[in-house]
Amino acid sequence: MPRTDNDSWEITESVGSTALGVAAARAAETESADPLIRDPFARVFLDAVGNGVWSLTSDPGLASKLADIAPDAQAYRRVMVDFMAVRTAWYDQIFLDAVAAGVRQVVILAAGLDARTWRLPWPDGTTVYEVDQAKVLNFKSVTLQGSGAQPRAKLVNVAADLRHDWPTALREAGFDASKPTMWSAEGLLRYLPAAAQDLLFERIDSLSPSGTWLATNLPDKNAVDPGLLSSRRELSQRFHAAAAQVLDAEIPDMEELWYPEERTDLTAWLGEHGWDASAIGMADLLTRYGRAVPSDVELPPVDFVSARRS
Ligand SMILES: C[S@@+](CC[C@H](N)C(=O)[O-])C[C@H]1O[C@@H](n2cnc3c(N)ncnc32)[C@H](O)[C@@H]1O
Repeated sequence: MPRTDNDSWEITESVGSTALGVAAARAAETESADPLIRDPFARVFLDAVGNGVWSLTSDPGLASKLADIAPDAQAYRRVMVDFMAVRTAWYDQIFLDAVAAGVRQVVILAAGLDARTWRLPWPDGTTVYEVDQAKVLNFKSVTLQGSGAQPRAKLVNVAADLRHDWPTALREAGFDASKPTMWSAEGLLRYLPAAAQDLLFERIDSLSPSGTWLATNLPDKNAVDPGLLSSRRELSQRFHAAAAQVLDAEIPDMEELWYPEERTDLTAWLGEHGWDASAIGMADLLTRYGRAVPSDVELPPVDFVSARRS
């Protein structure tokens, strides 16, 4: 279903289901022969919701049926798993670097089913604020509490829409804008209109004293290249047609969920606002972690931006 300005979702619906897609890739990576990351909680979330389009990534039996029907679908699935593996590893390292540098306040924007609060070895005194829509956070809390998992930092859930006034909700939850923070916005920005993305970073900027860290990923210039955009849509449509056949169910069109708009050059913008920012592209990140770089059409059009304010 197309997006609207105030849309909201359950974990299995619309943008909520993209968090399950990420969890499925993390589960597949965790359970692979030589995993780059280990996220045992990803499987806990998948078990709680049952089958859906995400299962084509996390269930080897369904994945092989998919490959029989659409041979290029298997390559598409492999790329998604590698993408999420290197993305997770990249963010993990920045979180660990930030706390090693003394940061004790962490804000995970669009936390979804990111289990870092349960996975990473946070130093004593760390508080993690997880911001996402209410129904997503509720699913996550109920599922992890039911599994007996314990967060490894002080966890504060902040139910808010990141297109609206989330800073007020964050402050009311105890966030202290005078303290250095580690901010992350992982897998979020393509689901925000470009103007909402700009506003998000203006707000982060205004809440960030020196010593603050930031990590995010966003569509690169190829994301709106008309030729690549239409080839990528064809590939995704073939994947979804095959997925519908394997699951014998209607599959929502995930391509309708994101905003293919020109975006601000975030690295430059951060530089102009007193941050020391740098970016790495998808192909370079795959190479850094020893993963294969696929063709331009299969390569997710993503840049990874990290920044520090000194
Ligand atoms: C692709 S998932 C990524 C989740 C998590 N960051 C990860 O990498 O595992 C996108 C997440 O963004 C959240 N999200 C997207 N738009 C949002 C908005 N306007 N307000 C709050 N959360 C939003 C969704 O609910 C979902 O959890």
